[in-house]
Amino acid sequence: MPPATHRLRLAPSLLSADFAALGDAVVAAEAGGADAFHLDVMDGHFVPNLSFGPALVAAVRARTRRPLDVHLMIEEPLRYASAFHEAGGDTLVFHLEARSDPDEMIREARRLGVAVGAAIRPDTPFEAVRPFIGRVDQVLVMSVRPGFSGQAFLPEVLPKVRAARAAIDATGSEADVSVDGGIVPETAHAAAAAGATFFVCGNSVFRGGEVGANLARLRASVEEGAHGALR
Ligand code: DX5
Ligand code: ZN
Repeated sequence: MPPATHRLRLAPSLLSADFAALGDAVVAAEAGGADAFHLDVMDGHFVPNLSFGPALVAAVRARTRRPLDVHLMIEEPLRYASAFHEAGGDTLVFHLEARSDPDEMIREARRLGVAVGAAIRPDTPFEAVRPFIGRVDQVLVMSVRPGFSGQAFLPEVLPKVRAARAAIDATGSEADVSVDGGIVPETAHAAAAAGATFFVCGNSVFRGGEVGANLARLRASVEEGAHGALR
């Protein structure tokens, strides 16, 4: 479970926003209570989809001062780390299943002075990320198969959220446990109870309803989930 003081943060995923009105979506989500923004970079190799690159991250950077969480679903995150840092990314999240060496990726992020996260797909065991705990700022537990928004949350990843939270707390690190995929109020509650502190939410923020009201519902759920776990 998260320490009582650990801030719970909501990061709308721009993959679900209207790309033709992206600036407006960013401004509306920030006004509606977004703590950060999550940007999904896809290369058509690591995942079977394409999205966007550093130019779009830079365009978003110009519209908000909130932290930008850049999720690199690409085979060679190391090769592009400096480009995404220069574009204004605050956290570079790479996949342990990608081709780049994780130690080199962490070193590169430190050299650039940017925060770094290690992500695991739903089929990757927690043990893959354990060696990096204490050296990363975020552990991202994917709760859907990476590549597409709008999928249903996979509850079988919750034990990995608990394991990551326990391992992070044991090191005294302040790292976030992030959940990404299928986050709606009910699943956000369960993830918060398991120790997640950073909630990526795409369709539940941008597809249907009013962005501020959607974020308020998610906020109430994560707070209730986390506090229930602390009781
Ligand atoms: C999926 C992406 C997610 C996606 C989440 O590969 O990593 O960030 O945008 O979208 P929802 O919240 O709709 O599942
Ligand atoms: Zn993502």
